[in-house]
Amino acid sequence: MAPPSSFLFLLLLTISATPPPIQSTPTFFPKPTNYQSSLLKQLAKSNPNPKLPYKTHYFPQILDHFTFQPQSSKIFYQKYLINSHYWHKNGPIFVYTGNEGDIEWFAANTGFMLDIAPKFNALLVFIEHRFYGQSMPFGKKSYKSAKTLGYLNSQQALADFAVLIRSLKKNYSSEASPVVVFGGSYGGMLAAWFRLKYPHIAIGALASSAPILQFDDITPWSSFYDAVSKDYKDASLNCYEVIKGSWQELEDLSAQKLGLAELSKTFKTCKNLQSVYSVRNWLWEAFVYTSMVNYPTEANFMMPLPAYPVQAMCKIIDGFSTRATKISKVFAAASMYYNYSQTEKCFDLENETDAHGLSGWGWQACTEMVMPMTCSDDSMFPPSSFDYKDFAENCRKKYGVMPRPHWITTEYGGSRIEQVLKRSGSNIIFSNGMQDPWSRGSVLKNISATIIALVTKQGAHHVDFRSATKEDPDWLVQQRRQEEEIIQSWVDEYYRDIKHR
Ligand SMILES: *[C@@H]1O[C@H](CO)[C@@H](O)[C@H](O)[C@H]1NC(C)=O
Ligand SMILES: *[C@@H]1O[C@H](CO)[C@@H](O)[C@H](O)[C@H]1NC(C)=O
Ligand SMILES: *[C@@H]1O[C@H](CO)[C@@H](O)[C@H](O)[C@H]1NC(C)=O
Ligand SMILES: *[C@@H]1O[C@H](CO)[C@@H](O)[C@H](O)[C@H]1NC(C)=O
Repeated sequence: MAPPSSFLFLLLLTISATPPPIQSTPTFFPKPTNYQSSLLKQLAKSNPNPKLPYKTHYFPQILDHFTFQPQSSKIFYQKYLINSHYWHKNGPIFVYTGNEGDIEWFAANTGFMLDIAPKFNALLVFIEHRFYGQSMPFGKKSYKSAKTLGYLNSQQALADFAVLIRSLKKNYSSEASPVVVFGGSYGGMLAAWFRLKYPHIAIGALASSAPILQFDDITPWSSFYDAVSKDYKDASLNCYEVIKGSWQELEDLSAQKLGLAELSKTFKTCKNLQSVYSVRNWLWEAFVYTSMVNYPTEANFMMPLPAYPVQAMCKIIDGFSTRATKISKVFAAASMYYNYSQTEKCFDLENETDAHGLSGWGWQACTEMVMPMTCSDDSMFPPSSFDYKDFAENCRKKYGVMPRPHWITTEYGGSRIEQVLKRSGSNIIFSNGMQDPWSRGSVLKNISATIIALVTKQGAHHVDFRSATKEDPDWLVQQRRQEEEIIQSWVDEYYRDIKHR
């Protein structure tokens, strides 16, 4: 039983359709053709979203920044969101480097930037990652094959950000504005790498929950699932043991004659189950995501959940009589994840929806983003190893590509990061909460006076990026204040430097 291998946010089984956009003619400096204009109008119409305080724009972006083949200068429309309400001319520009999903989802969950914008008189920009949301280079056919998906990689994404930021500064006549990049999770990796690769464009990066060391063998492969397990074990030893024992019960039951029928009943499935794997994935996903988003306040990132949801789940498990089956206990716990809204009539285990448009990650995980993971004997999941050959073969079957498992560390580094960045980097904050299993693959130690690790024991997946609330605990208020102060010091230094030029 291998762990679901391909997710940063994701162990998605099935995928919903993505919105229709675009593709267009190969022009050099693209003047919108009638066809493009009508597509633009269509894009604009498809997305009113009045709730977010951002205006939506579509930027004509170059398909391939790194070759000069005839098709390279094809353009597609890259979506970005902007808020200029607090901005003063030449004030800083805060850019969110979008990750693997709809940009609006990340904008809605990164209230921190909006919270600090007034103090900095900052312009806020959220740029969507190519091949996600509406930023589809080949419209509906973007995910069709390796021929189109080949343009989906992190280097192209970073170059997109650079080109867009330069154009934006020009249009706002604010070439002198300092740019600070922000990102969470994969977006945090992009923010940190952007600062390293494009120091002439961004003066600093706040990389929240960015597992840039989850590659090769830099971080022990079992650390992710060990960290998930620790969250549950710390909440209650019984809870951890029930979950750990439930997998065998599941296997045993499914091997029986009426096993799947009985499981369908127990798991209140909308349709009769075809296989036990979907049950396993469904449970797995609930436990992993809940550990990632073990936030100190009620929140809705993946799903609406109460404050400290791991503790809440374990309370459910611990509340059962000892005679109850482990399966009934873990079902009740997972139900909290899937049905906290209390609106689900039944569970569709074999056909989960992709509400945030994350499905392109499968390709990224099969090409550059190879993050080997295993489950140790101590984890609450069934022990498993990582078989690279199997993994690569699956990728070949699914996408017709072979992974390049050492490319990320070749392109961006990672090994001996402290010695390297101490000499060659500056102005990066790596923030992490130890509740989040991704923290183990991130930077948890201060590297230099300006490459700072902010670590909180009770923090979870980019919790610092969430909007401030009255219920926020002191450690979170303090962490955000420290981030703000550090960013302020970068900005002040920048203005001092250009004054004394
Ligand atoms: C800047 O203005 C040009 C010309 O109007 C436009 O094509 C481009 O999309 C603008 N850049 C951005 C980032 O919006
Ligand atoms: C979801 O919660 C509601 C309210 O507690 C309950 O009536 C319903 O049966 C639950 N759905 C499932 C599928 O368990
Ligand atoms: C999965 O769900 C989608 C929409 O929710 C539906 O259109 C599709 O038919 C479902 N597929 C299966 C196999 O049930
Ligand atoms: C890194 O340095 C900052 C002060 O600059 C400190 O607040 C923080 O706790 C240090 N981080 C770690 C992980 O020691």
